[in-house]
Amino acid sequence: MGKNFKRTTVTSALPYANGGVHIGHLAGVYVPADIYVRYLRLKGEEVMFIGGSDEHGVPVTQRARKEGITPQQVVDRYHKMIKDSFEEFGISFDVYSRTTSKTHHQFASDFFRKLYDDGKLIEKTTKQFYDEQTGTFKTDRDIVGECPHCHAEANGDQCEKCGRDLDPTELINPRSKESGAKLILKDTTNWFLPLNEYEGWLKEWILEGHKEWRSNVYGQCKSWLDMELQPRAMTRDLDWGIPVPVEGADGKVLYVWFDAPIGYISNTKELCESNPERWGTWQQWWQQEDTRLVHFIGKDNIVFHCIIFPVMMKAHGDYIMPDNVPANEFLNLEGDKISTSRNWAVWLHEYLVDFPGKQDVLRYALTASAPETKDNDFTWAEFQARNNNELVAIYGNFVNRALQLTQKYYDGVVPACGELTDYDKETIAEFKDVKAKVESLLDNFRFRDAQKEAMNLARIGNKYLADSEPWKVIKTDPERVKTIINISLQLTANLAIAFEPFLPFSSKKLYAMLNVEPLGWENLGSTELLPAGHQLAKPELLFEKIEDEAIQKQMDRLARIKKENEAASYQAAPVKPNVSFETFEKLDIRVGLIKDCQKVKKSKKLLQFTIDDGTGTERTILSGIAAFYEDPSALIGKRILFVANFEPRQMMGIESQGMILSAVDFDESLSVVTTTKDVKPGSQVG
Ligand code: 2FM
Ligand code: ZN
Repeated sequence: MGKNFKRTTVTSALPYANGGVHIGHLAGVYVPADIYVRYLRLKGEEVMFIGGSDEHGVPVTQRARKEGITPQQVVDRYHKMIKDSFEEFGISFDVYSRTTSKTHHQFASDFFRKLYDDGKLIEKTTKQFYDEQTGTFKTDRDIVGECPHCHAEANGDQCEKCGRDLDPTELINPRSKESGAKLILKDTTNWFLPLNEYEGWLKEWILEGHKEWRSNVYGQCKSWLDMELQPRAMTRDLDWGIPVPVEGADGKVLYVWFDAPIGYISNTKELCESNPERWGTWQQWWQQEDTRLVHFIGKDNIVFHCIIFPVMMKAHGDYIMPDNVPANEFLNLEGDKISTSRNWAVWLHEYLVDFPGKQDVLRYALTASAPETKDNDFTWAEFQARNNNELVAIYGNFVNRALQLTQKYYDGVVPACGELTDYDKETIAEFKDVKAKVESLLDNFRFRDAQKEAMNLARIGNKYLADSEPWKVIKTDPERVKTIINISLQLTANLAIAFEPFLPFSSKKLYAMLNVEPLGWENLGSTELLPAGHQLAKPELLFEKIEDEAIQKQMDRLARIKKENEAASYQAAPVKPNVSFETFEKLDIRVGLIKDCQKVKKSKKLLQFTIDDGTGTERTILSGIAAFYEDPSALIGKRILFVANFEPRQMMGIESQGMILSAVDFDESLSVVTTTKDVKPGSQVG
């Protein structure tokens, strides 16, 4: 740690309790935060890891409305689900609480009241949309209307169709999303934090004082600070949240982005009060200059953690500022943006059903493709490759060989190390280097590269065994083999330490196989971790291969979801201009019975139909639907509709005498149209 910090407070964004946790959350925030705190703990540093559920705000009320339950029921359900998922994936929070707790309500309320009493907030009256039917003001996300740009139906804050950010007052015919009622603009008073008054201080603190922050974070702060900051409302006209503790503020609650970050502090208070001997006071973790504060978040939260929350703390006056905010970019899934509403995600609770016990594989794959500097993509093919080609083939393979050889030659007892060759010394020097490299990377929040270095250690081990060939040397120089195996086992113990922040479940398993208690970080690089004569436990495989079928199952699931989404987003084409009955009557549409149906040679598109059209002679019609009927003969015997007076046309040297009617589905696939009764061929349609 730089400066003279004595402890580190690590926060991770409080997820909204309106849904489960998916790989995007894990990769963007919780796995890196967990790696970081595990690393600090292993080094013996004082650290507190804070998490919790964000249970207020519009996302929760919207989910409640969708499911027809109360917001409290929503947060009760999802808080538990989220908490369980984090536990299962080894996200090692010291506290995981919720913003509906009593402690939090009181704390956030007091925080607001202090700003209010100290005159740090300004009161402003603005016009907001109001639903006269329900007597409620509407937040941006609760308003729908016509987009002024593309004329699609849009939300008050954004048009999903054309992607533009909107102000609800721009919408044409704004309506309540909930009731559909027309909205009016009505005056309302709220309390604002005058961000503009802190601009100079923010510029100095961030732009001058924190040039070391990740470029994506620094860049986003800079572009905010380059525009003029505006006062920002800290209260809302809403009934779900923490009531504004000011007389006459009935029907108003604290803005969710005011109360959520305060949740970090109130959760700290809850932990400290539950065990003051262990954790001391909450003030130590938030108000002492010798405490380092680090926020792990996703990129959509940067402004809240780098500008708004710091201004809140500065205005309050007693708080330390974040020392770093290592925000990640976004993780996509198979090339598309992860989306809860479109179910385009890999949910943690579902992953564990399909891959039981493989938490570390996902942690590994997510860190390996972590979106640290730019958006990144998760693909199942890469997930499989990371497991099979790295965890199994490099790390698992080395550990397995070292342990199996020890079993085979020495009944699982660590042999004594003899005299070292130059090659032994070189190998040992190489793995001693890894500690400093991994440390420097972790200290700079470069988790991907740090994990790569840990994997390099296993590569060194594999190379050492392959070059030393103990399985050959055992026949000529058994004493030498003892040294090779001893070194390999020391290296194995080093791997358990180096990987512990990243793959805690695997390190635990490896320590059990080595029959030792977990080793501290300071031991990384040591060759004296397992004394000669130490009995190892029975070896097991550390990782297992993932077969193609398991991956195909996931791909099939995503393909199914994609199809469902496309179907759901399908909008029927606009109706064409009206035609008269006389015009319609000009078309002679009839029922035909398919006698034969075959692919036209040398054509990918065309099917040749032979139709009984009721006239006694057969009729040939060509139709461009071959791509949609793998086995055309399956159509034989079906009744279809065709236009009998369609101008005959020559195609591929065949005359087509009519047109078969097909329905065009949302994905542009075609289906012939049939009758529900066995109508006589030649019957007219009208
Ligand atoms: O973006 C989100 O999911 C928010 N619930 C994050 C809140 S972070 C913090 F301030 F609590
Ligand atoms: Zn639009």
